[in-house]
Amino acid sequence: MKKEILNEARIQFPSCSANESFARAAAAAFAAQADPTVQEISEIKTAVSEAVTNAIVHGYRDRMGTVELHLRRYADNTIYIAVKDKGSGIENIEQAMTPLFTTAADEERSGLGFSVMESFMDKLRVKSAAGKGTTVTMEKKLNRREK
Ligand SMILES: Nc1ncnc2c1ncn2[C@@H]1O[C@H](COP(=O)(O)OP(=O)(O)OP(=O)(O)O)[C@@H](O)[C@H]1O
Ligand SMILES: [Mg+2]
Repeated sequence: MKKEILNEARIQFPSCSANESFARAAAAAFAAQADPTVQEISEIKTAVSEAVTNAIVHGYRDRMGTVELHLRRYADNTIYIAVKDKGSGIENIEQAMTPLFTTAADEERSGLGFSVMESFMDKLRVKSAAGKGTTVTMEKKLNRREK
């Protein structure tokens, strides 16, 4: 059965690093509608930050491009987040998702972005094609707070 969407937003922005913090804040503001805990908000912000930073620094490594952030709130209090780029893509997704694997060790990257997204969110899916781009989809079910 399809989950009922209570609210949704799509934001597009150029791949400049200033938009990392913008995307974090936008996702936090959107998720705030679902009455999350401080910890849940902070985990969502961190996961979005990792995905958007990847799109900017890896996807559009040598050029500028458009990043799309797609946010949804489902009726079961799940927040859905997709981060999409049309950049370089990933040849071997399994290898890219291995903890500590990085193609940018010389830039002091630690290869932990996907591990962070995986640990803070309930679901993580990566779709990518070399030369075409990458879409990272994440979901997190928020616990209802005691009123
Ligand atoms: N959007 C993307 N486009 C192209 N390649 C990507 C993208 N996202 C991730 N990758 C590839 O997957 C690898 C692993 O990503 P991950 O975020 O786990 O580590 P990192 O970005 O290298 O380091 P860190 O996130 O710890 O700074 C990257 O080094 C890169 O090769
Ligand atoms: Mg990363």
